[in-house]
Parts: sequence; C-alpha cells; structure tokens
Amino acid sequence: MNSLFSKTCWVCVSSLAFALACGSSGAGGEPAASPEAPAASPEAPAAEATGAEPATGGEGHAVNVALQAKSGSTLSGNATLTETPEGVKVELTVEHVSPGDHGAHVHEKGDCSAPDGASAGGHFNPASSQHALPSNEPRHLGDLGNIVVGADGTGKIEIVAPGANLKEGDPNSFLGKAIIVHEKKDDGGQPTGNAGGRIGCGEIKSS
Ligand code: CU
Ligand code: ZN
Repeated sequence: MNSLFSKTCWVCVSSLAFALACGSSGAGGEPAASPEAPAASPEAPAAEATGAEPATGGEGHAVNVALQAKSGSTLSGNATLTETPEGVKVELTVEHVSPGDHGAHVHEKGDCSAPDGASAGGHFNPASSQHALPSNEPRHLGDLGNIVVGADGTGKIEIVAPGANLKEGDPNSFLGKAIIVHEKKDDGGQPTGNAGGRIGCGEIKSS
C-alpha cells in the first residue's frame, strides 16, 4: 500500500500541498480524484503552449513578402522573414529566373514602384559598413549574398542576417525595407557587389 501511495505522489513532487493531498487521498477513495485532476490539467496546457510558441509567439514574428518582377524579367517569388534570437531569418524563393547566381539584398526603402526597382534605394546599411558577402564581417546589414538558381529556373536561399530585427522603428529593422534580387552574381566587390540590374523587388511590411 505504501509503495502505491508513493507512486501516486510522484505526480505531486513539486508541490508540498499536493503531496499532503495525495497522502490524505490514500485514506479515502473520493479525494484521490480531485488532487490528481488539477495535477494533470496544468501539465496538458503547458505542453500545448510550448508546442505553439515557436510557430506564433513574439520571438517567431514572421513577415511574408511577395516579389514583383522588375526590369522586364519573368521572375516570381516570395520571402518569409522570421525574427530569431540571432537576427532575421530570410527564406527566399524565386522562379522563372535564369540559371546561376543572383545577388540578393535588403535595400533601404520599402518602395518597389519603379519599373527597374531603383525606388528601393541602396543596400540597407545602418552601420555604414562596406559591402561584403555573408560570412564576411563587417558588411551591410542587408547583404544576403547570392541565391543560386538551377536549370529549372528556381532557386532558394535561407540565411540569417545577424543583428537585424523586425521591430517597428528600430534602426536595424527590416520592416519598411525591400528585398531585391539582381540579374547577376554578387561578387562581393565595392560598392555593391557588381550584381547588375534589379529583376525582383518585394516590399517588407509588417503583417
Ligand atoms: Cu541589391
Ligand atoms: Zn551590400
């Protein structure tokens, strides 16, 4: 009997009150149900909450961006930006683009209205750094490197921009900026990687 009680009470280890309740429950059958039910219900919502938080919580704040074709290109695509503790994770996908490397950057203005994408301004560079490819520091906060497009015309890149965020009004925020995909490869050269014209543009707006 004693071992049976102690097993029941394992559920209640964190709470002295529950331990006492469990102890008394051993005497009568009825009280056993009520201490067990509260012990079980706090556990179930807790498990649900931890499962849901990474997808929808504040830390996982995500913004979807639709890319527009620019400079007469046939590009289509989209990006998902997600805040992480390290920075903003950018998942960029394009279609109907010529095979090869294409420079991709966050530019300083969230304005894709110009047919050539020039309205998006230059690379987003709040720290006044030099242009560089990812893995090189320092670099423009908006430098995402290259998206590699295969023979089928599709390409995908996933990269974290360290130190960037999606906070309204923050100097390092990607909100109110634009994602640009270029016609050519970003070779890391100055001042902006020699990536040529702008074939895709997407405004980054809070959703
Ligand atoms: Cu660019
Ligand atoms: Zn740059």
